[in-house]
Amino acid sequence: MVKVKLTTKVDSDILVVGLTKVNNKLQIESNGAQLESVSLLATLTAIGATAKADEVIKLPGKNTKLVIFTGLGDGSSNLNAETLRRAAGAAARELHGHKMATFALPHKSVVELSAIAEGAALGAYTFTEFLGNTKAEQKAPLGSVSVYSKFTETAQAKAAAKRAEIIAEQTFLVRDLINTPPSHLTPDSFSQRLKKLSSKYGVKAEIITDSALKKSGFGGIIAVGQGSANPPRLLHVTYSPAKAKKRYAFVGKGITFDTGGLALKPANGMEAMKSDMSGAAAVIGAVFAIAQLKLPIAVDGWAPLAENMVSDNATRPSDVITIYGGKTVEVLNPDAEGRLVLADALVKAAEVGKKSGGLDGIIDVATLTGAQVVALGTRTSAVMTNNEEFSSQFLLAAEIAGESFWPMPLPVELRASLDSPVADLANIGDRMGGMLVAGLFLKEFIDPQTPWLHLDIAGPAYNEKNAHGYTPVGGTGIGLRSLVQLAELASSQS
Ligand code: BES
Ligand code: MN
Ligand code: ZN
Repeated sequence: MVKVKLTTKVDSDILVVGLTKVNNKLQIESNGAQLESVSLLATLTAIGATAKADEVIKLPGKNTKLVIFTGLGDGSSNLNAETLRRAAGAAARELHGHKMATFALPHKSVVELSAIAEGAALGAYTFTEFLGNTKAEQKAPLGSVSVYSKFTETAQAKAAAKRAEIIAEQTFLVRDLINTPPSHLTPDSFSQRLKKLSSKYGVKAEIITDSALKKSGFGGIIAVGQGSANPPRLLHVTYSPAKAKKRYAFVGKGITFDTGGLALKPANGMEAMKSDMSGAAAVIGAVFAIAQLKLPIAVDGWAPLAENMVSDNATRPSDVITIYGGKTVEVLNPDAEGRLVLADALVKAAEVGKKSGGLDGIIDVATLTGAQVVALGTRTSAVMTNNEEFSSQFLLAAEIAGESFWPMPLPVELRASLDSPVADLANIGDRMGGMLVAGLFLKEFIDPQTPWLHLDIAGPAYNEKNAHGYTPVGGTGIGLRSLVQLAELASSQS
């Protein structure tokens, strides 16, 4: 777990500063921290530094052992919080194996300071659980971040440092869960691990086992999990502060491995399907963070967990199942499994929400469709909704958090493609617009009166390309920060 503090002195032997290019000339941006800039600038020019985002250059220093230059792009006037967050993260990623570094990046407000602290902390991540000792030590992430700032004495600045630690701690949990292979992460071990953690944060947790799920009629979770030797679970966590201003339910897709079932996926690329529980990890991590931040917002987190496998018990194409609450679904394609487990959990979340006084919003988070990746790529996630106001509020939160989300429609004319001759609904419809069809399927299980968001994070949840900014290879943790920021926005409203 990375530590974050504020400082008015360069308090370590590694100094991180910004590099920009103004009127085609390199410029060092150190927020006023002293360094031997003339000789360093000459060296940087000589080696052809560009100051572009994700460029990180390490040089030996005089006052400190190392000076790390992180690219801020062109000109410092248009610096935004996300540019700073990414630049800090890119530098932190280059500091694996070191104990501590001082980040002296330019900032004019506590919002920007907060972004620097968060980015540096988020970059200080590696996944070493399955490496031998020597390799793990070499890859040990930066342990402590010190942010050089003149705002150190203000309460907001101190809160920002603490918040960065919390966001990083929970994002690392999400990334760890995503990166953990299915040999070591099953529906049961996922729920046990998080239940154990929940007590630490003052969050209640209950695990609904496969036998209880069967008895209560969770036909979606059972159908998806029945082909696996690792039985399904439904994990429910609750953070319920006294005098909560709002109550939300977060529901995350928790497929610990998606083979596609009898609609078996091709071997090539199937390994990435260990990340098919990213939504579940993100929503539980978000509840933990909201609890640690003591926000006056009640949240239920729901993680329907199953392993989608091939076996003589696996759900067949043409099987008809009954979702919790009674709607029947013809399973035409067992690889469209996420919507089945989510349907059960969404209905249950609404039922429980109603009992505790009604939900102000319900949000599902899922690596739901390949179509999402085709439409928006690997860095932008999709938002679908039944409530434009709620969606706008979320998009504002995502913007502040530095997570890229884009609104997508739920066109009524696509709904008919989900009609089934034998059941209330089929689990697949038109292939074209597959992301929207999946959203329309989920919408069938939502009370139209309750503001609802469906977040399809299929592309951004798992980074199979190079690391960038504060984003590592593998699990990214996408979704968590926007959910936490949404709760923070709701906390500050009357
Ligand atoms: N987990 C996949 C979606 C996915 C694909 C996530 C790529 C991340 C990267 C999901 O369960 C799935 O298989 N969806 C199918 C749905 C189809 C059968 C309607 C898809 O997108 O192909
Ligand atoms: Mn699938
Ligand atoms: Zn899936």
